[in-house]
Amino acid sequence: MGQVSLARFLIEQQRAGHINADLRLLIEVVARACKSIAHAVSKGALGGVLGDAGTGNIQGEAQKKLDVLSNEILLEANEWGGHLAACASEEMDHCQPIPNAYPKGNYLLLFDPLDGSSNIDVNISVGTIFSVLRCPDGVTEPQDEHFLQPGSTQVAAGYTVYGPSTMLVLTVGTGTHAFTLDREQGSFVLTQRDMRIPEDTKEFAINMSNQRHWFEPMQRYVGELLEGRTGPRGKDFNMRWVASMVADVHRILTRGGIFIYPRDRKDPDKPGKLRLMYEANPMSFVVEQAGGAATNGYERILDLQPAQLHERVAVFLGSKNEVEVATRYHREAG
Ligand code: AHG
Ligand code: MN
Ligand code: MN
Ligand code: MN
Repeated sequence: MGQVSLARFLIEQQRAGHINADLRLLIEVVARACKSIAHAVSKGALGGVLGDAGTGNIQGEAQKKLDVLSNEILLEANEWGGHLAACASEEMDHCQPIPNAYPKGNYLLLFDPLDGSSNIDVNISVGTIFSVLRCPDGVTEPQDEHFLQPGSTQVAAGYTVYGPSTMLVLTVGTGTHAFTLDREQGSFVLTQRDMRIPEDTKEFAINMSNQRHWFEPMQRYVGELLEGRTGPRGKDFNMRWVASMVADVHRILTRGGIFIYPRDRKDPDKPGKLRLMYEANPMSFVVEQAGGAATNGYERILDLQPAQLHERVAVFLGSKNEVEVATRYHREAG
């Protein structure tokens, strides 16, 4: 078999009954938008896309020019296709309905348009994360509340990482598959079918500068990893932290590892830094479909019932056996 493009892969998924034509076209539109973002990202200073936008988002973060631009590219690409009922984004206060000028579809699209924005100005990998839900039956004018569905109901999710090469990683619930952007052809080509995360690992990803703010179970868990060969795990661990979730998760999907962004004492009222709907849910779906695990320290992330669109959550994901230990330590501590 020759090269399998994303278009062909999706047609095959449709023929096998895993997705319908609308969802296939929706994913193609998202992929097309990601190609535009990849193009903008790759221009860097020459495209005038670096630096701050001078605005902030509802989460209190300063927006970068590329946060705003990527959000616009995704909205613009998706509004006229007829597959969507509404979009929600890390960069928008509320969900955005499809303009009345266009036909409406049955899906809800959520995205983190530009993940890892602190890395934009230093030429380090960034990405886009997306999640697709069904619009509840009978809802013609979706509101924020209609997006509040557990991650287990996602019908598709994935991310694009804008790194040395641009890669799209996707799941529609039939495994996790990776596509590499062929810049000459302008299409994503399947380069890894059925990614599998090793159950054991010797690598962890965490922002260690927060260690003094961590709660007891986190101190215990990471303390054990740091003890290395003479500790309970009996092996030395290495640490990596890109500070772009897409890049850190992509490494873990490729060669294993555990990614952690815990809740801590610095901001005890916040249940974590990462966003449940735009980051944790789609990444958990991708990771579970590759044989990994994802919890908030206590429960499976995909089982959580969201209460708010911009809700935050603690995240432990990646190699199954390590996620299990970290989760057990949290449960034991109560
Ligand atoms: P975003 O750029 O979409 O706001 O997300 C940034 C997130 C995530 O990508 C990364 O894992 C984390 O923030 C890094 O946080 P620290 O700067 O605290 O390390
Ligand atoms: Mn942000
Ligand atoms: Mn992000
Ligand atoms: Mn972002």
